[in-house]
Amino acid sequence: MEMVRIFDTTLRDGEQSPGATLNLHEKLEIARQLELLGVDIIEAGFPISSQGDFESVQAIAGEITKSIVCGLARCMPRDIERAGEAVKRAAKPRIHVFCATSKIHRDHKLKKGKEDIIRISVESIKQALAYTRDVEFSPEDASRTELDFLEEITHAAIEAGATTINLPDTVGYATPSTYGLIFSHLIRKLPIIREKHIILSSHCHDDLGMAVANSLAAVENGARQVECTINGIGERAGNASLEEVVMALRTRQDYYKVGTRIDTTKIYPTSRMVSTLTGLMVQRNKAIVGENAFAHEAGIHQDGILKYRETYEIMDPATVGIPRSSLVLGKHSGRHAFKDRVTQLGYTLNDEQLEAAFARFKALADKKKEVFDEDIEALIDDQLNISHGLFTLEGLQVTSGTNAIPTATVTLKDSNGQKLQDASIGDGPVDAIYSAIQRLTGIRASLSDYRIRAVTKGKEALGEVQIELEHNGRKIRGRGLSTDILEASAMAYLAAINRLRNASSREKPAEAPAGV
Ligand code: KIV
Ligand code: ZN
Repeated sequence: MEMVRIFDTTLRDGEQSPGATLNLHEKLEIARQLELLGVDIIEAGFPISSQGDFESVQAIAGEITKSIVCGLARCMPRDIERAGEAVKRAAKPRIHVFCATSKIHRDHKLKKGKEDIIRISVESIKQALAYTRDVEFSPEDASRTELDFLEEITHAAIEAGATTINLPDTVGYATPSTYGLIFSHLIRKLPIIREKHIILSSHCHDDLGMAVANSLAAVENGARQVECTINGIGERAGNASLEEVVMALRTRQDYYKVGTRIDTTKIYPTSRMVSTLTGLMVQRNKAIVGENAFAHEAGIHQDGILKYRETYEIMDPATVGIPRSSLVLGKHSGRHAFKDRVTQLGYTLNDEQLEAAFARFKALADKKKEVFDEDIEALIDDQLNISHGLFTLEGLQVTSGTNAIPTATVTLKDSNGQKLQDASIGDGPVDAIYSAIQRLTGIRASLSDYRIRAVTKGKEALGEVQIELEHNGRKIRGRGLSTDILEASAMAYLAAINRLRNASSREKPAEAPAGV
């Protein structure tokens, strides 16, 4: 069977979602998980955009061996140098160069004519080839580019040495039939595509909610690489979602007649990891990975499922890694049972991570009689999410209630092990906690989002708090988990502050603006 390559751009286009900034440690965790998931290509970042991005791509390139590691570059010599430097240690390095080709971009953004654009693209591809033989070229805004010009530049890019031609629907404007047509047209008009075994690739944005449909139309018309992100995160309305594309190709293999190398049982844990680390929640009714994706509410449906699952389910939840067991762990469960459960839930933890998660599981089991799968998932996600160094919560005391002035006393430990304590009043208990933390850390950020949810049912449930802070025009997210919701609120705030401090200490001024 013919294979479609899965090119994951969660760490590049996905990270361009507002508020989704990831640090190096988090990017590495995601890259390791993407490799386990079986993605063919990991687009690890845009190295010229910041020192932090450069270092992340370099670190991922130094560790990942099975997937191709790709760095993005504009058609500019310094961009390509940085991308080349960043991926050079990779077992399988790729440089992805792009240049806008549509009339609207040529006239208003680049202010360049067609000839210049072809010349610059060809020179850039040749420059990239000095670092690796694996060079991808994208005519940005391809779906709004005149077909004859697209033909011309694709031909020139292939002659220059590009081995993958990606045809982005940059602004999410295409429809399945118009997008599919671009692929069939180029394959028909350019025999060089077949002769040189060039891979055509789709890259779709979801502005009109058609990113997945467009990607599948591209596959039907000859695309053999799909660019996508976990949970469909990305610029504006996002990119085509990896899990939807992969599961559509798998579930309707009878129709598409192509396969992927994705280990679909890793989809759900990967989705959770990306959601936790980026702070971007997955909507309940999201296909494949949403909380309701396999929930059956209607009596007729439940009855049908009990009689024969396939009456109302086209996919078995286990194929995407949602194993639900009736086995409930508790305080008497040992390390072995815990490890088994963690593995069944699709996580691969190293010894240190497992030990830390087990210690937290034991602490939780002391507070809560029954520990469910959702609790374990939340603990592990939280474990992966811990921002390193800086401030940790040592103590919290809160007074509030009718006719009482909400007051919080907070004790923190800083990275030197020094204890800091302060108290503050507020409009409510959470406000009091947050202003005490602001006084202790000296960081004044405004709270732009606060969400709380119970991880499982029952009054002993773990509470998960997700917040978003705004600081100097930048949005940063944090998450906290505890059976005590005020403690979870304090932890979420500290996670965001730590992330903010980490990011600002890492980011030196970019050599070029990041805008793609
Ligand atoms: O959407 C787009 O055009 C891109 C390119 C850089 C491939 O992300
Ligand atoms: Zn894009």
